[in-house]
Amino acid sequence: MRLAVTISAIMAFGPAVSAQQTTDAISPESTTGLAQRTDAVRAQNWMISTANPLASQAGANVLSRGGNAIDAMVAVQAMLGLVEPQSSGLGGGAFLVYYDARTGTLTTLDGRETAPMAATDTLFQTASGEAMKFYDAVVGGRSVGTPGTPMLMATAHQKWGQMQWQNLLAPAIERAELGFSVSPRLAGLIANDVDRLKTDPAAASYFLGADGNPLPAGTLLHNPDYAATLRDLAQNGVDAFYHGDIAHAIAAKVQGATGNPGLLATDDLAGYQVIERQPVCASYRAHEVCGMGPPSSGGLTVGQILGLIEPYDIAGMGPDSVDSWRLIGDASRLAFADRGRYIADSDFVDVPVRGLLDPDYLADRARLLDRTTTLPDAQPGNPPRTHAARFADDTSIEFPSTSHFSIVDDWGNVVSMTTTIENGFGSRLMVRGFLLNNELTDFSFESHADGVPVANRVEPGKRPRSSMAPTIVMKDGKPVIAAGSPGGSRIIGYVAQSLIAMIDWQMDPQQAINQPRRVNRFGPYDLEAGTPDVDLAPKLAAMGFKTNVTDLNSGLHIIEITENGLIGGADPRREGLVIGE
Ligand code: GLY
Repeated sequence: MRLAVTISAIMAFGPAVSAQQTTDAISPESTTGLAQRTDAVRAQNWMISTANPLASQAGANVLSRGGNAIDAMVAVQAMLGLVEPQSSGLGGGAFLVYYDARTGTLTTLDGRETAPMAATDTLFQTASGEAMKFYDAVVGGRSVGTPGTPMLMATAHQKWGQMQWQNLLAPAIERAELGFSVSPRLAGLIANDVDRLKTDPAAASYFLGADGNPLPAGTLLHNPDYAATLRDLAQNGVDAFYHGDIAHAIAAKVQGATGNPGLLATDDLAGYQVIERQPVCASYRAHEVCGMGPPSSGGLTVGQILGLIEPYDIAGMGPDSVDSWRLIGDASRLAFADRGRYIADSDFVDVPVRGLLDPDYLADRARLLDRTTTLPDAQPGNPPRTHAARFADDTSIEFPSTSHFSIVDDWGNVVSMTTTIENGFGSRLMVRGFLLNNELTDFSFESHADGVPVANRVEPGKRPRSSMAPTIVMKDGKPVIAAGSPGGSRIIGYVAQSLIAMIDWQMDPQQAINQPRRVNRFGPYDLEAGTPDVDLAPKLAAMGFKTNVTDLNSGLHIIEITENGLIGGADPRREGLVIGE
């Protein structure tokens, strides 16, 4: 087990949020060791890959009983909220990218949390106008945004589901009542978070024993409150969450949080909406790589990285060439520079979505990479159709939990969904059997830089910028890959690296997932500790990169759709499982 390393890195990070947060060597949810997983799973009809065996099984049961991918999504999310509660759940938000086989269309649902209507752009500033310390902001009510996941589940189900809503929630209700075994990963994460979990009596009494000690792996944990919440949703629909008793309990919990109350009100819950948005698609070597547009930076930044390396023969150079990694690393630095300047909730700021993926713009920027050493400096560019002077560079950070799952059903419908409560255990506030998110800390804590507004500043009703990158890759009008990962702003690098491995280097999903992680977000080149990347570090350093060998905790769950069937992989860095038939 390699659990403690990341948490101590987070602790060492210390007090204030500074200008280059996304470059800092912080891992998201902690590393908990590697599972043995070497071979991709193959199947003919349907497939599911999630971060937890009970969740994969819940989805597989739906798929094998004639449910479709959206039905399975509902069952999976309900189960993940129980068995992987630190990562996602009813108290969080999610993005769904969905391919509907009947109509041949690709769409997305935005279930991102919103800032309360009472929030202002100084939400995360001290009385003297300084950015708050990160965990002072996270723990308690201040960071809690209006949850979107329950509404996303219900909206997708109403649009595309075919099984009974109640039946899809039933397995998680039953499991919550019968109890589930605390996994080694959950036990390790609880053990690393005892002091923060103790700040909320409900979270403490659920995750810690009567003696105040963290629950060990293997504990049979019951969650009758979660069962009751799901039963209410099963019987009364999702309105039961956004109006009435549960909504009042959430608002009271947030506003009553000791020491750090928040602003979320019942009106915020009553007014919450899931938004259907066009996917953002980037061309890459005869593929269309489609993902989530703003408020996520995922689709645009993955698309920019691929667009910037497209002129170079990455396939010919191969995965063992240091030059491949120079190009990918510097493309990523350029893309992150644009991300920090331009991307936020496009319902509030004028994000140059088309400009950032404009082929001429990317070709110009790609020419910067035509060299043999690292770029000395990576600055934001001036994409077409931009009012560049309007925004200052962003300083927001993400220490997420988060989970990703991919599903393909019998009919060829495809779900790629990334789901989160942000930091591991979110705000640490637990109500009605689930944890509330701290998603608002994905906003920039600083609202202005030298008087220029930051695009991703807090505004009432706005959705914080995300890095989540649920992706469906299309070829000749058909889906060929469903992919995504948790990992904070590193999600973007994890997804881009996997797609390059599959498209350029012909790896199968499991081989792509197993590769050592290599991520460059705008600063040091993060290389995965405990892998041969220790040897890559000096070679990249000789090219001028700063390198950082560290735990890199992706959670990639990928399905490839080929003419000969489905091929799936699950990330050995988490506890996932692929099931197919
Ligand atoms: N909180 C993780 C993300 O949205 O990127």
